[in-house]
Amino acid sequence: KRFIAMLKKISHIGIAVTSIDEATPFYRDVLGLEFEGVEVVAEQKVKVAFFVVGESRIELLEPTAVDSPVARFLEKNGPGVHHVAYEVADLEQRLKQFKAEGVRLIDESPRMGAHKTQIAFVHPKASGRVLTELCQPGKH
Ligand code: CO
Repeated sequence: KRFIAMLKKISHIGIAVTSIDEATPFYRDVLGLEFEGVEVVAEQKVKVAFFVVGESRIELLEPTAVDSPVARFLEKNGPGVHHVAYEVADLEQRLKQFKAEGVRLIDESPRMGAHKTQIAFVHPKASGRVLTELCQPGKH
């Protein structure tokens, strides 16, 4: 069926935090995950930190402005799991397909994520309120 090889793996789990500095010791020192670096994604008004878990990552998201979507999330829910990101090989194609199937999307076309990835979010109304990101790795 079409599901075969559509999503390649869990790319990362996004976790909203008030402070990456304060959250880092748990992931780095307690869980012992390899810290991969911090990056600001200006468009989304967040600072992100990545920790490696096998082929996947934990992505900590700290808002850089009060009107950041992550700031609004923290206000409403407090720190915690924010989104699940799946890696896809052809994001454009997946978005076209979802649109054709009437799946509600936040992003109807790819936008820039961290690490030169192309990303798009599915609308939480279409995914049982679990914010779902599709992401296509950039060319390194
Ligand atoms: Co993400």
